[in-house]
Amino acid sequence: MRTVRVNASTVYDVIIGHGLLDGAAELIRPVTTAKRFVVICDDNVADIYLDKLETSLRSGGYSCDSFVFPHGEASKSSDTLTHIYSFLASMHYTRTDAVIALGGGVTGDMAGYAAGTYLRGMDFIQIPTSLLAQVDSSVGGKTAIDIPEGKNLVGLFKQPKLVIIDTDTIGTLPKDFLVDGMGEVVKYGMIKSASLFDKLCGCDIDHIGTIIDDVIYECVSIKRDVVEADEFDRGERALLNFGHTLGHSIEQYYHYTGISHGRAVAKGMELITALAAEHGMCDDDLCTKLHECLEKYDLAIEVEPALSELGEAVLNDKKRDGDTIGIVVCDKVGHASVVKLTVDTFLSYLR
Ligand code: NAD
Ligand code: GLY
Repeated sequence: MRTVRVNASTVYDVIIGHGLLDGAAELIRPVTTAKRFVVICDDNVADIYLDKLETSLRSGGYSCDSFVFPHGEASKSSDTLTHIYSFLASMHYTRTDAVIALGGGVTGDMAGYAAGTYLRGMDFIQIPTSLLAQVDSSVGGKTAIDIPEGKNLVGLFKQPKLVIIDTDTIGTLPKDFLVDGMGEVVKYGMIKSASLFDKLCGCDIDHIGTIIDDVIYECVSIKRDVVEADEFDRGERALLNFGHTLGHSIEQYYHYTGISHGRAVAKGMELITALAAEHGMCDDDLCTKLHECLEKYDLAIEVEPALSELGEAVLNDKKRDGDTIGIVVCDKVGHASVVKLTVDTFLSYLR
C-alpha cells in the first residue's frame, strides 16, 4: 500500500494498493466524523463492488445506503443530480453524513458535485474503479455535470477527504476503458515524465497489468504536483489538457459516439505534436516516438476529419481567452508548455 499526500486547500491522501475495498471502513475512519454514508455508483460497478464496500462499512459500525444510476456519460446530467438530491432529502441525510463515489469518472464527477452542493457541502470520499478515474479524475477536485450545451459546463472544485485506489478493480474493467485510460497515462509521460514514457514504451496493452500499480502511483504523483502548483486551474494545470483541444474537436465531429475520449485525445496529441514539429517547436522524431508508444496501447487511430475541419470546435474551447488560445505543446518527451496563439494564427495552422 502506498500513499500520495495532496497538499491542496484540503489536505488529503490518495491510498493505492491491492484489496483496499475490503478494508475501506478503517481507511475512512481517520478522515471523517461521519457515521452514515451514501454510496453513489453506476449499475455496472454496483453489480461487482457495491456489496463488498457496504459489507466493509457495516462491519466497521457505519450505516450506509446506496444510490445506483444507469452507467454512461448520459447519466452525468441535471436529471440524475436532481434524483440524488431527492434521495438524500428523502433519507434525511445531514451535513454530518458523507458521500462516497464508487466508480469511474462519471460517478466521481457527479457524486462530487452533489457532495459539494447538497446542504452547501458534505464530506466526500472517492473510490475510483476505472483507470481514467484512478489516474486523473478522482484527484484534484474537479467535479461537474454535463448540460445539453456541453460537457462539464456546470461544476465546482470539491476536494475529497480521501481517495482509495484499489488497483484490483482494474481487473474487471472492460478493455476499451482500459485503453481509454491509457490515453491519459501516455499524456502524463509526454508532459511530465520521460521515465514513465520509457516504461510505457517497454510494455503494451496486453501486459500493462504487470506494471499497473507503479504506473498509477506515478500518474497520481504527477497529478498531485500539478494540482498543488495550480489547484484552481489558472496556469500550470492547463498542461493536463495536452491533446485535449483537438481531441474535443474530434469527439464533437463524431457527436461523442463511436470514438472514445482516450482515443480522441491520443489523436489530438499526435496532431498537435505534428503541428508543433511543422512550426519548429519540436523535432519530427518526437512524433515518431509518440506514435510508436500509442500503437502499443491501441491508441494510434485514423480519423475522418481533416485538420481544417477541426477549427470550428476550437472556437468554443474552454481554454480560449478572447482572441487568444493556449495550446499545450511538448518540445521533448517529459516536458510541455502552453503556447499562446491568436485564434486566427491557430486556425491558419490547421488549414
Ligand atoms: P465511466 O465512469 O462511465 O466508466 C467507464 C465504464 O466503465 C462505465 O461503463 C463503468 O460502469 C465501467 N466501470 C468502471 N469501473 C469498472 C470496473 N472496475 N469494472 C467494470 N466496469 C467498470 O467513465 P470514465 O472513463 O471512468 O470517466 C469519464 C468521465 O470522467 C467523463 O465524464 C469525463 O468528463 C470525466 N473526467 C473528469 C476529470 C476530472 O478531473 N474531474 C478528468 C478526466 C475525465
Ligand atoms: N483532468 C484535467 C484536470 O484535472 O485539470
